[in-house]
Amino acid sequence: MINNETMKSILARRSYKMFDGRPIDDESLDTIITAGLYAPTGMNSQPWHFTVIRSPEMLEKVGAARRALPTPPGVPAAGDPMRNAPVMIVVSARDTLTAYEDSCLAMENMFIAAASLGIMSGWDHATVRALFKEGSDLKKELIPEGYTVYAAAFFGYPGPNVKDRGERKGTVEYI
Ligand SMILES: Cc1cc2nc3c(=O)[nH]c(=O)nc-3n(C[C@H](O)[C@H](O)[C@H](O)COP(=O)(O)O)c2cc1C
Repeated sequence: MINNETMKSILARRSYKMFDGRPIDDESLDTIITAGLYAPTGMNSQPWHFTVIRSPEMLEKVGAARRALPTPPGVPAAGDPMRNAPVMIVVSARDTLTAYEDSCLAMENMFIAAASLGIMSGWDHATVRALFKEGSDLKKELIPEGYTVYAAAFFGYPGPNVKDRGERKGTVEYI
C-alpha cells in the first residue's frame, strides 16, 4: 500500500462517540464543506443542501430534541447523544435519482477531509431517521422545503474513543 497523505487521512478517520467540545475554526470548517461539495453526484446534479449547525443555541435546541428520542432497541444508551460536538452537519437533497448516494458520498468526503485536519466525525442515524423526519418541527425550521435528510453527523476534536474498530478483514476478492 502506498501510504501518501490521502491514505493517511482515510486510515486515520474514526467514528467518535464523544468529542472534547473545542470549536472548529472557520477555515477548517470551510475546508470540510468544500470537500463535501466536490464529491461526485449522479449526472452532476449536485442535489444537496448542507445544514451546518454550530450556534450553541441551535445545538442546544437540536440536543433537547435528540435527547427526547427513544434509544433504539439493541443500542446502548451511552452518554449525551449530542456527543459534546461543536458542529453537526446535516445533508439533505432534492428528489433526484441518486439523492441518497450523492448525500452519503458528500458526507464521506467531509469525514476524510476532517480527519486530515485532526477533526473526527460520527454518523448519527437517529438524526437522519427520526429527528429530521418528514413533518418534524426541526426539519421545517432547518431544512429547505422539498429536501429529504439523508445523512447527519457530528464533527469535533476527538474525545475518548473507547473501541478502535480499525481492523478490516475478509471482504475482498481479486478475480
Ligand atoms: C450508515 C451508518 C450509520 C451509522 N450510525 C451510527 C450511529 O447512529 N451511531 C454511532 O455511534 N455510529 C454510527 N455509525 C458509525 C459506525 O458504527 C462506524 O462507522 C463503524 O463501527 C466502524 O467504525 P469506524 O467508523 O471508526 O471505522 C454509522 C455508520 C454508518 C455508515
